[in-house]
Amino acid sequence: MRVKLAAGNWKMNGLSADLAEIDALAAAHPDPRSEVLICPPATLVAAMAARTDGTAIAVGGQSCHPAASGAHTGDVSAAMLADAGATYVIVGHSERRADHGESDDDVRAQARAALEAGLKVIVCVGETEAQRDASNTLDIISGQLAGSVPDLVTGESLVIAYEPVWAIGTGRTPTTDQIGEVHDFIRARLEARFGTGVGRSVRILYGGSVKPGNATEIFAVSNVDGALVGGASLKASDFGGIIAALDAA
Ligand code: 13P
Repeated sequence: MRVKLAAGNWKMNGLSADLAEIDALAAAHPDPRSEVLICPPATLVAAMAARTDGTAIAVGGQSCHPAASGAHTGDVSAAMLADAGATYVIVGHSERRADHGESDDDVRAQARAALEAGLKVIVCVGETEAQRDASNTLDIISGQLAGSVPDLVTGESLVIAYEPVWAIGTGRTPTTDQIGEVHDFIRARLEARFGTGVGRSVRILYGGSVKPGNATEIFAVSNVDGALVGGASLKASDFGGIIAALDAA
């Protein structure tokens, strides 16, 4: 049985005052059936980890450098995130791939560093609208999985997030059939590469315009083990609705 995961990605949002949302979330969901994770900006990881101590909320980073330390101005390593209290890190988000030119090789190196630092890693994949229109979605996903996911993973340490680029922050989502097609495909690729034991244990999240209002139908799709949520993770009331939908799925 895979433990479902509701993960929030705050992106470049959040000041100290916004930690109050986490208090509200923890109070509203003291004992969720699902795992709950918030990935705030790096500046808030330590404070959020301290604040969520004793609650059901875990804290993660949004990216990490492949090296443990060194002359990389402005970057944060996986060991630093772990030291600050993170237990997860997102790698390969499409915004990192686009804004920072991160390749599959870069993402795989980051994922490897995260695992070496003892973090669980959420590897993001997803097609652009042009790639979907050209019927290349599964080829793109296949290539990203092969290139971005390191070899040494376990069913617990690896999470895949399928985030169609065109669905992020747009209010548009794929149909449930389209989500199911990609999630079933990812599951098959994981089983082929890592064997059924590991392949069936890895959680596969859907991300892109998940809201309380569409969460229930998305969580009913096969091989959807939770969500990676951007905008709707910023407010406890919205994210709480998504947690409730996942707990009920
Ligand atoms: P939105 O939920 O705001 O569409 O963002 C999704 C996302 O990119 C999560 O990583």
